[in-house]
Amino acid sequence: GYDLWLRYPKAEGTALSTLSSHATSIAIAAQGDTAKVARDELIRGLGKMTGVNPTVAGTPQAGSIWLATPATDPALASQPVKLDGLGDEGYLIRTVTVNGNPVTLIAANREIGLLYGAFHYLRLAQGGGSLDRIDIRSTPKIKLRLLNHWDNLDRTVERGYAGQSIWDWWRLPEWKGPRYTDYARANASLGINGTVLNNVNAKPESLTAPYIAKAAALADVFRPYGIKVYLSARWSTPVELGELKTADPLDPQVAAWWKAKADEIYKAIPDFGGFLVKANSEGQPGPQDYKRNHAEGANMLAAALKPHGGIVMWRAFVYAHDNPDDRAKQAYADFKPLDGQFADNVLVQVKNGAIDFQPREPFHPLFGAMPKTPLMMEFQITKEYLGQSTNLTYLGTLFQETLESDTYAKGKGSTVAKVIDGSLDGHKLTGIAGVANIGVDRDWSGSIFNQADWYAFGRLAWDPELGAEGIAREWAALTFSPDRRIVDPVVRMMMGSREAAVNYMTPLGLAHIMSVYGHYGPGPWVDTLDRPEWNPVYYHRADAQGIGFDRTATGSNAIAQYAPEIARRLAKVSTTPENELLWWHHVGWDQKLSSGETLWDSLVHHYDQGVAYVQGMRQQWAALRPYVDADRFKQTETFLMMQEQDARLWRNACIAYFQSISKRPLPAGAAAPE
Ligand code: GCU
Repeated sequence: GYDLWLRYPKAEGTALSTLSSHATSIAIAAQGDTAKVARDELIRGLGKMTGVNPTVAGTPQAGSIWLATPATDPALASQPVKLDGLGDEGYLIRTVTVNGNPVTLIAANREIGLLYGAFHYLRLAQGGGSLDRIDIRSTPKIKLRLLNHWDNLDRTVERGYAGQSIWDWWRLPEWKGPRYTDYARANASLGINGTVLNNVNAKPESLTAPYIAKAAALADVFRPYGIKVYLSARWSTPVELGELKTADPLDPQVAAWWKAKADEIYKAIPDFGGFLVKANSEGQPGPQDYKRNHAEGANMLAAALKPHGGIVMWRAFVYAHDNPDDRAKQAYADFKPLDGQFADNVLVQVKNGAIDFQPREPFHPLFGAMPKTPLMMEFQITKEYLGQSTNLTYLGTLFQETLESDTYAKGKGSTVAKVIDGSLDGHKLTGIAGVANIGVDRDWSGSIFNQADWYAFGRLAWDPELGAEGIAREWAALTFSPDRRIVDPVVRMMMGSREAAVNYMTPLGLAHIMSVYGHYGPGPWVDTLDRPEWNPVYYHRADAQGIGFDRTATGSNAIAQYAPEIARRLAKVSTTPENELLWWHHVGWDQKLSSGETLWDSLVHHYDQGVAYVQGMRQQWAALRPYVDADRFKQTETFLMMQEQDARLWRNACIAYFQSISKRPLPAGAAAPE
């Protein structure tokens, strides 16, 4: 699994002859570090696929791949291609004629576009299809496409399920192992262009000179791949390092401290990206400790970074006691009034939903509600609540569902994707982040199928309107083989897998009923934690009458945080989408749903469907034994077996617990919980 989707397997038959005639040499005049890694990746990939390394030439000839920028290749001007609109990172790939010979041109305004184009070409080459008459143009729709590592300085990873952190802080900055380069290659192959190295629950030490030097060493490795380094900053760093008595953002000493810190960082990392900040959330310090608001805090940091071109990503994941009736309402309550007050190099980073990366959550009400502020999406790639390393729960469908949700902020069609790509409100500074699922495990992500979540995040960050299914097909072809006998069943398994997890964990809009510490396995009965909103009973609210969280006007009225079109729909059970029902309503056990079943019967059936889907995946996978190598086959086979155990446990525990409250008999045919 180490090679991820960059396996470059040996081609055979027509695929081999196609490659051998279309990619015999690489013509490249550009000399920068990024052009070199583009060239080297093509040599590596094509060499492995054909068994013969392509030669490198200064000028294109028959069978060349020609990597060209206008600055280095005057001959580009005579080709019928237009680079306008490709920007700094876009590229085109086109079959052109040079001296009467067909040549594959990869052209871009900047070398990074050549690298992205080279990876695109290698994707095509691995697909085994025709390489004639290629005509592709591609530009990223979102500017900042980042991984967020929740990696601690002691190499533990918060919510990480793939082993220790890949950042070997102890041996940095001197030792820069090859894994860093492979990390950069994998990310660049998807267009990811930034990485936040350390946990949002940050330690002050991460901004001290030794750690700045370590971050600088990583930045040096990543730079040719177009990847910038960012750091999470702890609000109280100057106080905890013993350098100031206060962290009040309006105190001039504090502003001066951060300015000096930014200057120090930029001396070591001239293209440093900026800070990610979790403030006044889950016990983290922040400007509210000094009675200042989030904008005052973010803007002070932004001013320190601004002269260097850096940005602040200020997280909206906040909850404390100011909305005792509903945790889901706090981010909107705190941030919406600040729209228009943030400096122009601040993005507010918003989780996809208002609670916390649940198997299904309605989109966050801040999307569409802050038109004057660039909102950055935060997805979780690591599967904290979706079965962690072992469950096969492809997240592409979850990402897509959020991105295509309609906020109605400017009428129908105001999707979340359009909010974050800036097109809805005309923002140029745009961003998307994924909390990484990467660790030192040999396969990087804890399982082969978890690699697909990293892949899907990267592809959607480049273009949030790409569909999850197309991405799954691409990933399966690159990871296993383009053979449809493998791709079709693998994609089928993946596409329903997240819905299956919703069904066996939190069907019909339930949320946050996981075991409270590890967030793995069921725990809907827990009611003993100090804060009400930490307890699962707070979320499901099951009682003798029914189940679900009333967020309408008779309850917390969280629906009022959404556009009127949405709020109206959510106000009534009959017009609420069934898959979000219990998120918005407390529904009677005997209430009839559109299926004609009662809520109670439907709940039980959803749990059963979840288990049945996992059984189905096991069967589909078993049939793939002849097509998949033994190691990867066995890992997935074992993990699916474990997933069925998990699904059954969830089903049995939740049905037994909820039945103890509903006091309803199981529907006909449903097995009694074991
Ligand atoms: C979740 C997660 C924490 C994390 C937090 C955050 O609550 O369980 O581990 O720190 O999200 O996003 O800040």
